Amino acid sequence: MFQSIHSPFVNPTPSQAELEKWVKTIAEHCQPEDVKWADGSQEEYDSLCQQLVDKGTFIKLNPEKRPNSFACFSDPSDVARVEDKTFICSRRKEDAGPTNNWMAPAEMKTILEDLTKGCMKGRTMYVIPYSMGPVGSPLAKYGVEITDSEYVVINMRIMTRIGSSVLPYLSTEEYVKCIHTVGAPLQAGQEDAKWPCNPTVKYISHFPEERLIISYGSGYGGNALLGKKCFALRIASAIGRDEGWLAEHMLILGIQNPEGEKTYVAAAFPSACGKTNFAMMIPPTSFEGWKITTVGDDIAWIRKGPKGRLYAINPEAGYFGVAPGTNYKTNPNAMDSVKANTIFTNVGITPDGDVWWEGMSDTAPAGTIDWHGNVWDPASGKPCAHPNARFTAPANQNPVLDENWENPEGVHISAFIFGGRRSTTVPLVYQSFNWNFGVYMAATMGSEMTAAAFGEMGKVRRDPFAMLPFMGYHMGDYVNHWLQFGRNLPNAPRIFSVNWFRKDENGKFVWPGFGDNIRVLKWIIDRVKGRAGAVECPVGWMPRYEDMNWDGIDFPKEEFTKIMTIDRELWKQEMLSHEELFARLYDKLPKEFFFMRELILSALWRSPEKWELEPEVA
Ligand code: OXD
Ligand code: MN
Repeated sequence: MFQSIHSPFVNPTPSQAELEKWVKTIAEHCQPEDVKWADGSQEEYDSLCQQLVDKGTFIKLNPEKRPNSFACFSDPSDVARVEDKTFICSRRKEDAGPTNNWMAPAEMKTILEDLTKGCMKGRTMYVIPYSMGPVGSPLAKYGVEITDSEYVVINMRIMTRIGSSVLPYLSTEEYVKCIHTVGAPLQAGQEDAKWPCNPTVKYISHFPEERLIISYGSGYGGNALLGKKCFALRIASAIGRDEGWLAEHMLILGIQNPEGEKTYVAAAFPSACGKTNFAMMIPPTSFEGWKITTVGDDIAWIRKGPKGRLYAINPEAGYFGVAPGTNYKTNPNAMDSVKANTIFTNVGITPDGDVWWEGMSDTAPAGTIDWHGNVWDPASGKPCAHPNARFTAPANQNPVLDENWENPEGVHISAFIFGGRRSTTVPLVYQSFNWNFGVYMAATMGSEMTAAAFGEMGKVRRDPFAMLPFMGYHMGDYVNHWLQFGRNLPNAPRIFSVNWFRKDENGKFVWPGFGDNIRVLKWIIDRVKGRAGAVECPVGWMPRYEDMNWDGIDFPKEEFTKIMTIDRELWKQEMLSHEELFARLYDKLPKEFFFMRELILSALWRSPEKWELEPEVA
């Protein structure tokens, strides 16, 4: 019944007529007041912003401080992604795997057809044609998002390429169909809610076989800007499996040395581990002549290209970054990226019409309005900005945007870097023995949960490839896809693990992080080019003190040794804890994993209790 042409949720074959028919079907079902196709123009953007100002949703910031920028406060119930309401509705449950919520497509559609009937009454329905990746690039993919939220149209224009330029591709290329509604109940008194959403019922549902996304009840970016996590990771990961490429939760950066040699790397870190900071890092002054440039800060689409190399694009066109903690010390380039033309969600607003968040400066100006819309009392113990407050800013405002960021062929990736937040156990950096060991390391990576994440503070959550919340299919199939991808890849990128977060016996971070991370990056690049020394440790290859560049920093060898030490007992526990993940993926676990686990265990078994770097070891 749900595959019938009368269902509003059928994904038709690409043609302009089919697209129009689909839009008409959705409009008949959702019953909006009006239907508008987004053309992506500046005039359209300005007029939608003004509409939200008139409604009281947007507050226009002081043009002398933040030209053409707006702030808004969400409903307090609608501030983050909702992992427990996120579903992969593959036809077979086993295709969603044990790490995803699953519901049968027909069951989900029954619920959603019911919820969405007439759900846009009194509102305008927007149709947003969009491209993930540079329009026309062989690596780009297309989508159409239908939404009843002006906030979504505005933010999609920053985060993706939208409008008329995309339309021709929708007649020839397969595209992902995305339906979004804020799902606000239209009872009396609710019509002019400043942040319409459904405070209790939300479904972020993905139908990978149909290339279809239906998002109900939330206006928050990660749930409503469907090009980002929903398409570019969950649906794209399933497309990548079918077509032989990778959709990854990775930043892409370029690193150029003083001789002008440029290398690109892609790096995966779970949410809230500083991906945006790393992607925009400013090298310390002692690294004169070195340059870091940003291709992307969150998502990479990666394919095999000429000479057995991998090439990646950033499918996005903007940054949807976490504001709190961002300042001129931690990330000057992000601060400069949000100077103008930016949308701020759930930050504080200062009396002179600018924005403020925790960590931006020591104190907020007196009279700053908090994210609940009240004058903030710093003594209240409550934050002024929500911990997940966000900025949405166009990528082309980033002062260190890479010259190839829109190269339709992508950039050549020389190394993959995986990192979590680990106060113990995992060294600052090591290189995996080979592709398979790298895949094992990435599949078993973990991160300690922070206040912003779910679960027990400090507990390690296994987050394979930093993709746990973003996988569109079975995690075991995904790991096998990575192994398969590495076969017949003569120039495979080398794979590295990093950990900026190791603490000493007093609970203090040992590694300075931020700009000094370039020291680690330099070693990585030099390894890739065959220029840097390393010693074999039980889990891979690691730099000796003398293999790293210490110009301009007083970082004693003893400190370095501390954060490079492999503690046998802790690593045995680490290996044991991999079992938990393996048991969940049991029927799909690659056979290679059993052997690699044994090899690492046996290396640990014959290593000293504390495996330490010995400078004299050649
Ligand atoms: C994000 C996330 O918003 O990873 O990028 O949660
Ligand atoms: Mn992310």
